[in-house]
Amino acid sequence: MSFRRIGILTSGGDAPGMNAAIRSATRYALSCNLEVIGIFRGFLGLINEEMKVFDHRSVSNIISHGGTILKTARCPEFLEEDTQRRAVGIIKKYGIDGLVLIGGNGTYQAGIALSRKWGIPCIGVPGTIDNDINGTDETIGADTAVNTALEAIDKIRDTVTSMERIFVVEVMGRDSGFIALQVGLASGAEEVIIPERNYDIHRMCHDIVEGNLRGKISWIIIVAEGAGSAEKIAAQITEITSLETRVAVLGHVQRGGSPTAKDRNLATRLGAYAVELLIQGATAKAVGVQSNQLTAVDLEFAVSKKNVDCDVFLQLIKKLT
Ligand code: F6P
Repeated sequence: MSFRRIGILTSGGDAPGMNAAIRSATRYALSCNLEVIGIFRGFLGLINEEMKVFDHRSVSNIISHGGTILKTARCPEFLEEDTQRRAVGIIKKYGIDGLVLIGGNGTYQAGIALSRKWGIPCIGVPGTIDNDINGTDETIGADTAVNTALEAIDKIRDTVTSMERIFVVEVMGRDSGFIALQVGLASGAEEVIIPERNYDIHRMCHDIVEGNLRGKISWIIIVAEGAGSAEKIAAQITEITSLETRVAVLGHVQRGGSPTAKDRNLATRLGAYAVELLIQGATAKAVGVQSNQLTAVDLEFAVSKKNVDCDVFLQLIKKLT
């Protein structure tokens, strides 16, 4: 099949670097004499025909901006066959020969349906701060989110140390402890609680009390949102140890901001590669980078559970406390 026109969309939670991926996919496609349609608001915009023809200038000066100029949305109704049929009709109506889908798990699930069930060529580009996509060492936005959270935690450390307190800091990650582990190690946190592993509140409290006896009074405990709420964990610590605690929930600040150089370059490489794969006739693939090499895996593999060696991080953090 010869390619004439591609569509690009971002879907699910935004991630810093998505704009760099849009820019790269657009300009790479244009340089290969393809036409580009920007699809707004993810799959929701697709079924509502929110489309715009993109030229070189449509993506000027966006590489350094967080968020996504295409806007994004979650679209659970895309799991329904009727919605998919409607989307396919619109894709055909606009003469779109293939899609670049920038997002995380939900985005890839929609890509699997469109490509496998309805024959629309789709290539996934991993855009999520959670870094929970298989077949790539890192996802676009994860590095920026980690650095944003780290900057905040470093500031919290100043007050924790000065006032000799126990602080529980909640970071993002519904099913993934990636951000928590990274910032835990990088900030010198005393404990990290992640959804992939059980934690023992009594053991933790025992360590805190023992530490206090040795003169170690300030503690930072990082919790990934999927493993429990910082508020609850702090209340449990106070109940068990009778020690005062404080809480900080970093929230959506972690999703914004100018992407790091690492995220911009990852996004730029992956956006271009996704278009190249479409031109080569690939479908239902997810692009990624493994050991700094561009790779492509099946979308089904990309959404399967990612095996992360959390224990190496957790053990090191514990040893250094
Ligand atoms: O995109 C990933 C993520 O940031 C998760 O870490 C978090 O649990 C979720 O999105 C929050 O989603 P929303 O912005 O829809 O509340």
